[in-house]
Amino acid sequence: MDRLSNFKRYTVTSALPYANGPVHIGHLAGVYVPADIFVRFLRMNGEDVIFIGGSDEHGVPITIKALRQGVTPQEIVDRYHGMIKKSFEEFGISFDIYSRTSNKIHHETASAFFKKLYEDGKFIEKVSQQYYDEATGHFLADRYITGTCPHCGYDRAYGDQCEKCGTSLNATDLIEPSSVLSGNKPVLRDTKHWFLPLDQYEPWLREWILEGHKGDWKANVYGQCKSWIEQGLQPRAVTRDLDWGVKVPIDGADGKVLYVWFDAPIGYISATRELTPEWEKYWKDPETKLIHFIGKDNIVFHCIIFPAMLKAEGSYILPDNVPANEFLNLEGEKISTSRNWAVWLHEYLQEFPGKQDVLRYVLTSNAPETKDNDFTWKDFQTRNNSELVAILGNFINRTVVLTHKYFEGKVPAAISYTDADKAALEEMRQFPGRIATSLYGYRFREALTEVMNLARLGNKYLTDNEPWKKFSSDPIRVGTILNLSLQICAQLAIVAEPFLPFSAAKIRHTLNLPKFKWEDAVALNWLKEAQQLNQPELLFEKIEDSQIQTQIQKLLDTKKANLEAQAKPPVKPMKESIQYDDFVKMDIRVGTILEAEKVAKTDKLLKLKIDTGIDQRIVISGIAKYFKPEEIIGKRVCVLANLSPRKLKGIDSQGMILMAENPDGTLFFVAPPDDAMNGADIK
Ligand code: 2FM
Ligand code: ZN
Repeated sequence: MDRLSNFKRYTVTSALPYANGPVHIGHLAGVYVPADIFVRFLRMNGEDVIFIGGSDEHGVPITIKALRQGVTPQEIVDRYHGMIKKSFEEFGISFDIYSRTSNKIHHETASAFFKKLYEDGKFIEKVSQQYYDEATGHFLADRYITGTCPHCGYDRAYGDQCEKCGTSLNATDLIEPSSVLSGNKPVLRDTKHWFLPLDQYEPWLREWILEGHKGDWKANVYGQCKSWIEQGLQPRAVTRDLDWGVKVPIDGADGKVLYVWFDAPIGYISATRELTPEWEKYWKDPETKLIHFIGKDNIVFHCIIFPAMLKAEGSYILPDNVPANEFLNLEGEKISTSRNWAVWLHEYLQEFPGKQDVLRYVLTSNAPETKDNDFTWKDFQTRNNSELVAILGNFINRTVVLTHKYFEGKVPAAISYTDADKAALEEMRQFPGRIATSLYGYRFREALTEVMNLARLGNKYLTDNEPWKKFSSDPIRVGTILNLSLQICAQLAIVAEPFLPFSAAKIRHTLNLPKFKWEDAVALNWLKEAQQLNQPELLFEKIEDSQIQTQIQKLLDTKKANLEAQAKPPVKPMKESIQYDDFVKMDIRVGTILEAEKVAKTDKLLKLKIDTGIDQRIVISGIAKYFKPEEIIGKRVCVLANLSPRKLKGIDSQGMILMAENPDGTLFFVAPPDDAMNGADIK
């Protein structure tokens, strides 16, 4: 068998998904399925390989989700890490370790990495101006700030990126910025951060990538790197003013953490340390081949920033390849976690039990290897029914059933081969090498097509030879035909293993075969004469229109819900949490408005006389635009009674009336129940 590499071992990483949502088919097609195929193939080749995965548990989207749900970031990541890990396991993604970046070992590893670079003088320290929310006392990193994109005018762009036009932004580029925490307009304040001077690595990156990996890295990956490098690289801040993440491990950095894209790729190293005490050989020995499986949005981080970090550190190897895929769309639209436009892995596993290989097959045969591709439920059904069922499943089933029918399930002898038999055998010998070459070149679709071509060869061989018509006249010939067909089944069990591990195991069980090495795939003599077969197991079954209709309806429901949600203006985000003591300090009473009149020379203020049960007092309220004085006399209200008096337009205002405001700005009195008396204490 071709060994296209002279490496001693492989370290294969797959992007660490953010633990703020479940995994969907886009993640699977882009990263995890190809990585898993590759690793399973290497293992079959007897390679020393580790397959690293884990959850990326830092970053602003996680803290914002926690804030919105009123829970801690740790609760969010615990929930999703558990869910993601379980669904990967059930789906057969064969990680050697699935770790997480909130682990102690990761915090230690990332801190030590930063410290080494810091002590070696690899960073530049810079004070720059960043947006700050005065109401909450926070610097607003990345997604804590929104505003209008200066490029496309989208009014919900983030401080680090516009999701509409994809442009990468600085928060200060946003037009009319506002804080996600309070909705307020932020102010600029000085803050110190540490920057990796990527500009200094430019000559080296040119040589290493643009010269060293030309023709070897995929065109989409190489092209993106070239464009980044040619635009000119800038120093990149690797710290943030946040309280969720890996603390910056140096003096004078209180309240600062490592930027999530600094710590996350170090997560691959931490996970390896967690996996084995021999971790260094997987990261520091030049005879180890390091390969990162990622999606296209992660290219700059894995091809430029992380390698620059590794280079700066000095003792690590660099990635040999980064076979990034493009994006998978769903029914013609971009997959979106926030719009729930996705096929979620955990739901698929529940709704299509035992059909892991069907999804693995569809996502590989339609993988977005060179351009964005589309997943449709109709195509899923067709590929299952017309390819897995009709070609692969049908061939194995026919062969095994006929062997049971004519030879009591015992492998018949191959007595003498015809020229056509010899040609089929010769063709069989070519498949393992061809598939291996495609796999070593990260062309997974092409490799899987060859596996199916082998099944097609089997079907054609059976159809051409028609053993069912010959048994009564020539049982010996039928024995040879079935022997050869069974050898094709066995070869399929071997070469399909990396792609369809669950089905390959079933075929092996039916044929009573052990697990083979890849190099065994050319032997063509796995089944010995008279070897007993088991009854055929159901490999694939037809997917009915009704099942597909259910899935399509689910997506239509999502679309409807999204349209309805869009029509509603968004609810204001929740404020910072407070203590119970803060709340009980407020003295809120039920009261009645006795008198109401406009305050002269303003169009906003009303002067109200209120019976609070404690006293009768004057409250100035900014509600004149919404209510006429005569309409609100006699209204029952809730009054914050112990608010320090304030002078408004020369009048002492003694308290505040509680109002409810809809997201569209409509305003209502918070009305106490009819039975509550004036002076009733609200708590
Ligand atoms: O894009 C993402 O989902 C990131 N969480 C990927 C991180 S990959 C690695 F650097 F950890
Ligand atoms: Zn934009």
